[in-house]
Amino acid sequence: MIVRIETPEQMGELGAAIARQLRAGDLIALDGELGAGKTTFTRGLGEALGVRGAVTSPTFVLARTHPRTDGPPLVHVDAYRLGSPAELDDLDIDFDRSIVAVEWAAGMLEGVTDDWLGLQITRPRGAQETEDGVEPRIVEITPHGERWRGFELSGFRLS
Ligand SMILES: Nc1ncnc2c1ncn2[C@@H]1O[C@H](COP(=O)(O)OP(=O)(O)OP(=O)(O)O)[C@@H](O)[C@H]1O
Ligand SMILES: [Mg+2]
Repeated sequence: MIVRIETPEQMGELGAAIARQLRAGDLIALDGELGAGKTTFTRGLGEALGVRGAVTSPTFVLARTHPRTDGPPLVHVDAYRLGSPAELDDLDIDFDRSIVAVEWAAGMLEGVTDDWLGLQITRPRGAQETEDGVEPRIVEITPHGERWRGFELSGFRLS
């Protein structure tokens, strides 16, 4: 499934739309170059989940847990500095009882989990950035494993 995102706000709305389907044990795998919008997506997702604490780039902590008053916490992982799935495993994340969003997930999930919803964010070729840095993005959503079979995006207005 391919979605075109026009603004950072809309990237957040995509996160919110996906958040409505999430439950404990779910994992969102985010990929895309520096500044693609992985954290912007996760922020929208976190806000929709009603997490405590601002969702910011977790770069210097590898993983940050955002508790929620009702429901499983959001664990936000930045795998940029991880060298292998074993190093992700070493973080001892309670995957079964959390909702996990991993930035730079490519190549880090094999053997850790079979089920994830993958989001690959790219910039369309030839797109023009506006003065305030807004530029379209293309998000390719790929379901992996039994959990995500038949995934559909609902409650999101496509531009
Ligand atoms: N259509 C868009 N969707 C998402 N972000 C956009 C868009 N247009 C412009 N931006 C800007 O791009 C930047 C995306 O930054 P963000 O931190 O979300 O990226 P990232 O993929 O997490 O980067 P990093 O690899 O450094 O973690 C933000 O400054 C955001 O405002
Ligand atoms: Mg980021």
